[in-house]
Formats: sequence, C-alpha cells, structure tokens
Amino acid sequence: MSNKEQTFIMVKPDGVQRGLIGEIIARFEKRGLKLVGLKFVHATPEHFEKHYHEHREKSFFSGLIAYMASGPVVGMVWEGLDAVKTGRAMLGITNPLASPPGTIRGDYTLSVRLSTCHASDAVDSAQKEIALWFPEGVAQYSNSMESWIFE
Ligand code: TYD
Ligand code: MG
Repeated sequence: MSNKEQTFIMVKPDGVQRGLIGEIIARFEKRGLKLVGLKFVHATPEHFEKHYHEHREKSFFSGLIAYMASGPVVGMVWEGLDAVKTGRAMLGITNPLASPPGTIRGDYTLSVRLSTCHASDAVDSAQKEIALWFPEGVAQYSNSMESWIFE
C-alpha cells in the first residue's frame, strides 16, 4: 500500500556552492513529486542542532553543525506517493561511495559530510523537520500532473 506523504529535502551547502540546486529540484519534479514548500536560507547552528537532534551524542555532531551553518541551504517539502521512501531512494545512502550511480549522492559526491542533499528518513521525522523548517505551513494546491501520477 502506498500513501500520500510529505518529505523534507534539503540541498546542503556543497550542493548550493556547486550549482546543483536546479539539478536536484529537476530530479524531484521529473519523478512526479509535487513541490509544496521551498526556501533559500542561511540557517543558524542552533537551527541545525534541532534539525540533527538525533545525532547530538555522535562524534561528528559539532563538525556537522558547523558545516551545515557555513553557508545557505535550500529547504523543500515534496509531496507524493511514498514521498519519504522515494526521497531516500533518490538520495542514495549515507556513504556516497556506496551510493549507486543514478542516485543524487552516487552522482554528485564522494564525501560523507559534504553529501549534497538531505532527505527525511521516516514519516515521523519528516513531520518534525517540516514543522521546524516551515512553521508557517506549506502550500496546498492541485496541479495537472496529479491525475497522471495518483491515478
Ligand atoms: P545520517 O542521518 O546518519 O545520514 P543521512 O544524511 O544519510 O540521513 O547523518 C546525518 C549527516 O551527518 C550526514 O548526512 C553527514 C553527517 N555524518 C558525518 O559527517 N559523519 C558520519 O560518520 C555520519 C554517519 C554522518
Ligand atoms: Mg539522517
């Protein structure tokens, strides 16, 4: 059974610096997910501490936070069938070296930290991340593609 879901996708500072924003957005659009939230923001370390709260005890945490707050990112909410699982599949896995070609990490990066893109890993974390990044809420609209994708 597939469910209509929302997921939080973020172009990380390396993706912004390397001019990959358009490429990444294009992949999600072409797949048929619907963009319902989008912002370009240079977020604070405190904001990323909340975003990556689950990793607060990890040895890589401080480096991760400093990196993520080092430049602007693009935060997005994409909606569609199994959007969370689909987003993760499009991303690849945490270790880019083991991410297959055709995935975002498998195509654009070799670094675990400079990993180009973030995707929520579960429906509950997606909901928390969307609330953190889009407290004002996201858009609700229908587009002509939906009749083809959610038949
Ligand atoms: P994680 O949630 O495990 O990976 P993913 O981004 O695939 O959900 O880790 C969050 C981020 O932390 C990851 O994108 C990059 C960084 N990180 C490191 O810098 N070193 C590490 O060893 C790991 C596991 C993650
Ligand atoms: Mg994660």
